[in-house]
Amino acid sequence: MTNNQSEQYLNLRKKSVPQGPANMTPAIISHASGAVMTDVDGREFIDFAGGIGVNNVGHCHPKVVAAIKSQAEKLIHSCFHVGMYESYIKLATKLNDLAPGDFEKMTMFANSGAEAVENAVKIARYATKRPAIICFENGFHGRTLLTMTLTSKVKPYKLGFGPYAPEIYRMPYPYCYRCPFGLEYPKCNTHCADHLEDFFITNVAAESTAAVIVEPIQGEGGFVTPPQEYFPKLANICKKHGILLILDEVQAGAGRTGKMYAIEHWGVVPDMITQAKSLAGGMPLSAVTGRKELMDIPHIGGLGGTYSGNPVSCSAALAVLEILFEDRLLDRAKELGEVLQKRFLELQKSYEIIGDVRGKGPMLGLELVRDRKTKEPASDEAKKLTKLCYDKGLILLSCGNFGNVIRTLMPFVITNEQLDKGLNILEESLKELTK
Ligand SMILES: Cc1ncc(COP(=O)(O)O)c(C=O)c1O
Repeated sequence: MTNNQSEQYLNLRKKSVPQGPANMTPAIISHASGAVMTDVDGREFIDFAGGIGVNNVGHCHPKVVAAIKSQAEKLIHSCFHVGMYESYIKLATKLNDLAPGDFEKMTMFANSGAEAVENAVKIARYATKRPAIICFENGFHGRTLLTMTLTSKVKPYKLGFGPYAPEIYRMPYPYCYRCPFGLEYPKCNTHCADHLEDFFITNVAAESTAAVIVEPIQGEGGFVTPPQEYFPKLANICKKHGILLILDEVQAGAGRTGKMYAIEHWGVVPDMITQAKSLAGGMPLSAVTGRKELMDIPHIGGLGGTYSGNPVSCSAALAVLEILFEDRLLDRAKELGEVLQKRFLELQKSYEIIGDVRGKGPMLGLELVRDRKTKEPASDEAKKLTKLCYDKGLILLSCGNFGNVIRTLMPFVITNEQLDKGLNILEESLKELTK
């Protein structure tokens, strides 16, 4: 095997592209299908990253490709503000039906997860006439000025990029493995949710707060998964004070946890949902879906954008929804989740370095620690582990404030053989790392 082409592109990349847009692997990808990516030198990788949670239905799914081709032949862009089109309206109608809540909903589209979050915040502020937004420690919402401000982790996301947007307040997230209140579940009685009432006294008044924005499972923050009582309690407190609850499902939505929306695991109905990533199978698209009476308040022209809800992206998303439901991919996601959970719990028994296994469905994280008592984050080890996996042909990502959480975001169409091969590589690499 030669690395000629990869090396050439890597050298050119170093010369032509700034270092800011990070590369988690040195791979230069030529093509991909299902759960396998192939680089320009013909080297194949099993993909447990799915383009950071974008390829739930698999790379280049034939139905998505067909939808893109067919739409591209008819109309690539007219701009929704200039000439409307079927795919935008059809997709909005479908997402309104899919989002939790037995009430009328509306959906608008944007291009990225960050843009969806920006729009949800705009709508919440406009509708409530309140300025403040409450977000969470370890949260990630994007890289634009507002969403970077909402994001918690300072390095690399915020350092040097201030000043930040005003009226953003951050409270602790229910991170049971490292409880920010030093408590233990379930004896804690989910104090972290009740803390919102204290937060109104010490940080920002409830009557100044437009919305609480929260990830159902923190993605970049380390696949942190709140306990079952958390969201119902949080939602009740928000409702009591007329504060909107925005669920940022950009990473956890589109079936990632075995349900269309992750918040369904908690049985809570948010006022607005933001989603992106796997929604359009790799085409840039994001959506805000929410209560009709909120979504429809901002004046004409107050929302939108040139490319927002592009026809090709919307057509790809319609194909993704068809695949998720007609090909029963949500059932496959659940099945994958069970296989992964079983295997990870077995690995945890054999490898001291695995401190915590958490998540829902196939959105699972392994938190690596140097010592199970002190829980010292095994950050360098996580980096070495992903590198060892890469060298053996498995692309696997880490996340978390300390970069010590290994996460699974593989396409649901992964075959059992590919899954097994990937998990065997992970196990071999763990063995090598800890020997
Ligand atoms: C929960 C969440 N919100 C927002 C974003 C930002 O999405 P984008 O990178 O498409 O702007 C991400 C990206 O990882 C995310 O995980």
